[in-house]
Formats: sequence, structure tokens, C-alpha cells
Amino acid sequence: MKIEGKEYRTIWYERNIVKIIDQTKLPHQFIIKELKTVNDAINAIKIMEVRGAPLIGGTAAYGLALAVQESNDKEFIKKSAEELIQSRPTAINLKWAVDRMMKKLTVVNSKQILDIALKEAKEICDEDEKFCKNIGINGLKIIEKIYNKKKDTVNILTHCNAGWLATINWGTATSPIYHAHKKGIPVHVWVDETRPRNQGANLTSYELNEEKIPNTIIADNTGGILMQKGEVDMCIVGTDRTLSNGDVCNKIGTYLKALAAHDNNVPFYVALPSSTIDWKIKDAQDIPIEERSSEELSYIEGIDEDNKIKKVLIYPNNSKAMNLAFDITPAKYVTGLITEKGISEASSEGLKKLFN
Ligand code: MRU
Repeated sequence: MKIEGKEYRTIWYERNIVKIIDQTKLPHQFIIKELKTVNDAINAIKIMEVRGAPLIGGTAAYGLALAVQESNDKEFIKKSAEELIQSRPTAINLKWAVDRMMKKLTVVNSKQILDIALKEAKEICDEDEKFCKNIGINGLKIIEKIYNKKKDTVNILTHCNAGWLATINWGTATSPIYHAHKKGIPVHVWVDETRPRNQGANLTSYELNEEKIPNTIIADNTGGILMQKGEVDMCIVGTDRTLSNGDVCNKIGTYLKALAAHDNNVPFYVALPSSTIDWKIKDAQDIPIEERSSEELSYIEGIDEDNKIKKVLIYPNNSKAMNLAFDITPAKYVTGLITEKGISEASSEGLKKLFN
């Protein structure tokens, strides 16, 4: 998608270096950062220069290719794979991508290993782009249906950033929106600010602006009243891990939005590529929920009057704060799962029908 009119993907490999868009600096600065070693990739995932389930999967794949570029020692590659998997715990795409890379790398000889690693990392990213595009084509049908009935702007609420910046391209939750916009369907997006890191305000609103899609940032608690007033036609969110029974783990606050949607008969869709499905864990309570530093709550970043990025403390000095990054929305509150293969009921039967 576009930034200042120029097409980008979120990650690419150029002359032995992996390049990423540093998301910690957006929306105020657009900086392309270079990752030269596997440690650079691990660090970029940890400090969220790259974030969003599909993109951290893609970064882990290229991170492992960087490890191979550094050394083809089998122990080093194995240790790098383990460290990459541990760099963020909740999004399953990370482990999925590393496992897929390791499957290829453990059976090749040392002469071919770098070529194979780079090829597989590119394939993982290309596939994500293709899958996200298909999510858009499938999700477009839902937006079209609402528009044909309403004959007026379709208001869509989204949480966090499940946009193209969180994937390789297109996004998951935003892909149906981009497809609708391209088809000339009038859409307007309610963007949850998404405290504490403000991925909605800083990233979703930013990327929608760049694509000229009307959007309005709202505080995280505003969605409920908008739904009561009939100002939300549907919700679409992303996910970091969806269980085979349709339970959805996503950015903290998603669950409360799903409850409000349920109470107001607003359809609540979750968009995901199949790389985000965890076929193993059966009970959502077993999903590792990331707890991040409380400083993400107590400090806030913005630009001052000299256009310099500044970080300020907003809480009382001695207050305790707690920062869980994800929550779980039970399948019963999910209207449907929009995947690359079609739209499925959020249930084992629904997912089995699509992915058997
Ligand atoms: O902590 P983040 O910013 O990585 O969380 C991202 C989300 O919760 C997204 O909704 C999810 O990864 C899906 S991205 C297509």
C-alpha cells in the first residue's frame, strides 16, 4: 500500500540486509530501518519496531535467514530459532514461520542453506500478501451486502492495527475496507485509539489517511455508545491467535468491543490468514498472554512544538500499573472468521470445512 503516494511492503531484503518500516516512530517520522543480524530482528520484534501477527512471522523468517547468513553452524541456527520464537509470546505466526523455516533448513546441505532460507522467507511473505488480498476479496462481500441494503456510507469499527502495516501488505481487518474503497463503496472507519501503545491512532488512522479512506479516531470506550446510536454497521478486527474452536485472542480491549457488539446486534468479524490458527491448543486459558512493561501505560510519546518526539510521564510517580497486551473473545461473540479461503463460522466445524 502507499505512503506519500509510493508503494511499499512492510519488509524486504536488499543486498544482504533486511529492511523494515520502524513503527515505533510512526506517525510522526517515516524511517526505514536496516536489520543486519538475527539479533537485530529479535530486537525489532521485542521493541515493536515491527508488530502485528503476520509481520512478526515474516520478520522471524527473515531473521532466521540473517542467522544463516551470519553462520551456517547448526547449533547457532537452532538457538536463533528458539530466541526468535520467544521474542513475543502471543502471536502464533512467529512460531509457525520459524517452524516452517526450520523444516526446510534442517534437510539441506550447507552450500545451499542460505539460498533456501532466503527463498523460504520470501515465500512466507509473498504468501501472506496473497492471503491478505484474498481476505479482502472475501470480506468485501460482507461490506457490499450492508451497502446494498443501507445505500449509504458503511461505518466500520476496528481495534488496534490489523492494517497493512501489521502484515506484509493489505492487512487483515483493513483488506476488505481497502477493497470496498477501491470498488467505490463509501466506507468510514471508527478507529479505536488502542491504549496503551495507540496502534489504532498511530498506525491504523495513519495508513487509512495515506489511502484517503475517511476515518475517525475514538477513545477505546466510545464504541459502545456509537453502537447504541446505530452508528456502527459492523466491526472487523485482527487476531494474534485463533483456536480451532473459533476463540479469538487479540489486542486487549477486543473482548469488550465484542460484548458491546453482541448486545447491540452489530456483526463482529475477525479477519485472519490461516497462519494465525493454533490447531494445537484447545483451551483459550492456555494461550500465553504477553504482559508488557507498565511504562507503556505510565509514559506517553508525542511531538512537541519543535516537532521533536518527546516522552512524558502521565501517572502519579508512585502508582502501580499493569499492562496485559491481549485478551480472549469467546467464539460465541464472533459473527464470522474472514480467511483467505472464505468466511467461516467461528467454530471447529466451520474451520474444518474450510481447512481440511
Ligand atoms: O501488540 P501488537 O501491536 O502486535 O498487536 C497487534 C494486534 O493485536 C493485531 O490485531 C493482530 O496482530 C492482527 S494483525 C493483522
